[in-house]
Amino acid sequence: MKIELKNNKVFFENQGLKKEIHPFWLRERVNGDIYIDKGTQQRLFDPTKIKENISINKLNLSDDYLEVTFNDGAYTKYLIQNILKEFSNTNDTKYIQKIKWDSSLKNLNNFKFKENFFEEKQMYDALINFYKYGFVIFKNVPTKNNFIVNFANSIGSIRRTNFGEFFDVKSKPNPNDLAYTSLSLAPHTDNPYRNPVPCIQMLHCIENEVSGGLSTLVDGYTVTEKLKNDFSDFYKILTEVKVRFQFIDQSVVLEDWAEMIQLDEDRKFKQVRFSPRLDFVPLIDKEKLELYYSARKKVSELYNSDKYRIEFKLISGDLLMIDNHRLLHGRTSYDANEGRRFLQGCYIDYDSTEGKLKHLKRKFNL
Ligand SMILES: [Fe+2]
Repeated sequence: MKIELKNNKVFFENQGLKKEIHPFWLRERVNGDIYIDKGTQQRLFDPTKIKENISINKLNLSDDYLEVTFNDGAYTKYLIQNILKEFSNTNDTKYIQKIKWDSSLKNLNNFKFKENFFEEKQMYDALINFYKYGFVIFKNVPTKNNFIVNFANSIGSIRRTNFGEFFDVKSKPNPNDLAYTSLSLAPHTDNPYRNPVPCIQMLHCIENEVSGGLSTLVDGYTVTEKLKNDFSDFYKILTEVKVRFQFIDQSVVLEDWAEMIQLDEDRKFKQVRFSPRLDFVPLIDKEKLELYYSARKKVSELYNSDKYRIEFKLISGDLLMIDNHRLLHGRTSYDANEGRRFLQGCYIDYDSTEGKLKHLKRKFNL
């Protein structure tokens, strides 16, 4: 990638492809104290107020800098590296390659928590692993005073829901969700009925004295790829039919319509939703429904199969961070008479992890 000049025009060259950079694009990126606030890096001028016929009067290119004088008198000196950065996607978490995994996964992405952890390079490594595998486990996280709230807010901002800022996961009388029992929970994604669906779930183990109650995870991305390759009709219908997900309790009715497998604008994997206690398919053609039901059965079979599920026991101080758009989670049943099993949970969104990741990348010059 490089910058070239010709006839008072600036060109951007990448792999033999040469394109002119619009002078206005450069004009609205002018820097220096009169144009940009040093502290916030925000513009001190309104680019919508600049006249449209901006052109370049004078150009000068050196190894590191591009100097431009515009026809409205504005002059600026750009660091070429900063211009080139805008043409690369290296800062985008979308380009962190996902690693597919199944039950053979041995590395549980453990990171030891310590003081100041959120500002350390280790935190950056943990977040990269999170984007690769869809989960990470922090060990030795303090368990007193609802520390999960501090933890979440040190990465970004907690996402409050009608379950509260955080929720206690233990068996209790008259629960409004099966999570608050000692029953096993088959792999599912959380809150598919919300708009938007919480991106990331944190589960912090405060106490775990029971022999059962193992945590389970399944990679929805791996299963989706399997479905796409081996059962393309099923894949197709699950990416097409929008299903109603619903949650009802005494004080709220939450509903949202979405595909069980949602694709992005490039028709690539974006998100899975799976919670067969909460989904209602619309009344579509009988043949289509027939295919839909077979597809849902198949995907459920895959999600619940030993081939894709990992199981592990969370111990006191473990904090599991799960990508709720990619992974399914669950637990095995336990006997509440054996002792206490107490987890705390909360949600954060991708802006938290992305913001932290980019901050640490900038801080450590990575
Ligand atoms: Fe859950």
